[in-house]
Amino acid sequence: MKRIKAVYPGSFDPPTNGHLDLIERGSKIFDELVVAVLRNLEKAPLFSVADRRNMLESMTSGFDNVSVETFDGLTVEYAMTVGASAVLRGIRAISDYEYELQMALMNRKLQPGLETVFMMPAEKYSYISSRLVREVAQLGGNIDSLVPELVAQKLREKMDPALKFANVERKASERKALERKTRSRKTRS
Ligand code: PNS
Repeated sequence: MKRIKAVYPGSFDPPTNGHLDLIERGSKIFDELVVAVLRNLEKAPLFSVADRRNMLESMTSGFDNVSVETFDGLTVEYAMTVGASAVLRGIRAISDYEYELQMALMNRKLQPGLETVFMMPAEKYSYISSRLVREVAQLGGNIDSLVPELVAQKLREKMDPALKFANVERKASERKALERKTRSRKTRS
């Protein structure tokens, strides 16, 4: 039986609950789904490609048929390289349609055998975009219900580097406490 592999390309700066919703939907209809983070040297992203990849990997660790990769150059070429026959993209509202249609038709012109499949995220995520999440976070707004918890934490750390330092310190002191506990248990037994 033919197995269908799809690529879900994007900037994911940062990944949002809308992206996760789409990944979940895509994982149900495709045999394999590769979430592909674009390495775009022209844009100055908030998160490095490595950070975005790590966040997406943690977010998708529960899906057996989803992997996360990075790519540069044309999406269609990347899709061909990994043996994908479809490109997955999300459409949230009519405002997305024009850009997405243009991109899908250009991709079809470049690679006629590759199909673009559009899926809609749940309507509760229809207003969420990475750009707005960045803006809200940068201006101190609450982004907790817009992105997965680990992304919210990373955003908070980005906005306030002191938080990152505090978290590293907290984890180090928790580790030390655990080591002390283990040592004292060993000496007692
Ligand atoms: O999350 P985004 O920023 O909307 O994703 C846009 C993306 C990465 C899908 C698009 O910019 C892209 O495919 N870039 C790779 C270069 C390319 O193939 N350009 C021609 C697209 S028609």
